[in-house]
Amino acid sequence: MDSLLIKGGVPLQGDVTISGAKNAVLPILAATLLTSEPCVIRRVPNLSDVKFMGQILTWLGAQVRFEGDQVSVHAKKIKGAGDYDLIRKMRGSICIMGPLLGRLHTATVSLPGGCIIGARPINLHLKGFQALGARVTIERGYVQAKAKRLRGSAMFLGGRAGSTVLGTANVMMAATLAEGVTVIESAACEPEVVDLANFLKAMGAKISGAGSPTITITGVEELHGAEHEVIPDRIEAATYAIAATATNGEVTLRGVRPEHMHAVLDKLKDSGAKIDCNARGMTVSRNGRLKPVDITTLPYSGFPTDAQAQLMALMALTPGISIITERIFESRFMHVSELARLGADIEIEGPSAIVKGGKPLSGAPVMASDLRASAALVIAGLAAKGTTQVNRVYHIDRGYENIDGKLRQLGARIQRIEES
Ligand code: EPU
Repeated sequence: MDSLLIKGGVPLQGDVTISGAKNAVLPILAATLLTSEPCVIRRVPNLSDVKFMGQILTWLGAQVRFEGDQVSVHAKKIKGAGDYDLIRKMRGSICIMGPLLGRLHTATVSLPGGCIIGARPINLHLKGFQALGARVTIERGYVQAKAKRLRGSAMFLGGRAGSTVLGTANVMMAATLAEGVTVIESAACEPEVVDLANFLKAMGAKISGAGSPTITITGVEELHGAEHEVIPDRIEAATYAIAATATNGEVTLRGVRPEHMHAVLDKLKDSGAKIDCNARGMTVSRNGRLKPVDITTLPYSGFPTDAQAQLMALMALTPGISIITERIFESRFMHVSELARLGADIEIEGPSAIVKGGKPLSGAPVMASDLRASAALVIAGLAAKGTTQVNRVYHIDRGYENIDGKLRQLGARIQRIEES
């Protein structure tokens, strides 16, 4: 298994181009299953999760071609069941269910289990499919949704932690081909849902309200092929912005959409970062000393759970006490014990982490437990004295395109150790 070797203490300097958003491209690739015509998706990040999605589409019968950052998919004839071994590798693959149900009126996929960050149920996805008239059964680890006809209806998709991103995406995709009007209340407002809606509209879907808690979909008979460019990854951008602040550097993020990042930028400014949006992109540097901030993760437009671990790494370096509360996933604090190996002083109290920051961090071997935890460890390693070895980097390759190459370009001393 590959690992990253980081010699810390170098301020990041220079420009970095932000890739397409992982959490937008996965449902968008799934949406290509809704039409028998060819689709072309651009600004596709080179990530292992995207490759898995390509394999799933191929397994379902689609022709998939990757060329640089462009993917062409032609799902002329497809089947309605997903392979267990492929689907279990990536939880995001659940979003093939909505398109399969919409187009074929039947979808069978292996029931995704929990993962390291929490239980991750799909009850809200299934509630939405049922509201469209599907019969849902769970047998031998597989979940099946089946309907003679899909009929639009009004539904409430809010859950314990608020809206669901992939649940909203799944139901919206199925509803594009249902008869009549579907109204999703308590819909997720994330920019990735809006990007998916824009692609579906380019395919001929009738959707209004995406980006608000009420999405209305008027079903159409069929969708046609379309081309689409994926939005930039706001979480990748947040990660580089936090790394620039943590290392006291100056980094210009190219190709970002600052309007998708208000909550993160606001907290970064409060913590002592300077953010300057200019013709080249968004330049992040330090504005004096670091200051502690409190954050609570929330659905968009609140502070994203996917940037919580990275912000915690910054707070570990910041003198004073910060309280970081995780409200989306019940166990997304796996990075705490690994940050402690670098010298961070963090205590967990229920859903909150109390960070007593400002203790000097020094390099150590650490273990990545999930994608964003790995990013937090890389940030801490970049700022720590000495050498940090981040093991199990396959987690980071799921969601960060060429992270070691991009960081090296910014002057970081980081090396990938490949193990066969
Ligand atoms: N939930 C339910 N029932 C459901 C679905 C969700 O109770 O049927 C709960 C979850 O347990 C959680 C909350 O609702 O407490 C929000 O989960 P959501 O469904 O929004 O998460 P998701 O759609 O499965 C996506 C991203 C995650 C990101 C979350 C929250 C993709 C592929 N994944 O997951 O991304 O953390 O939204 O923003 O889009 C990551 O990129 O590192 C990552 C984990």
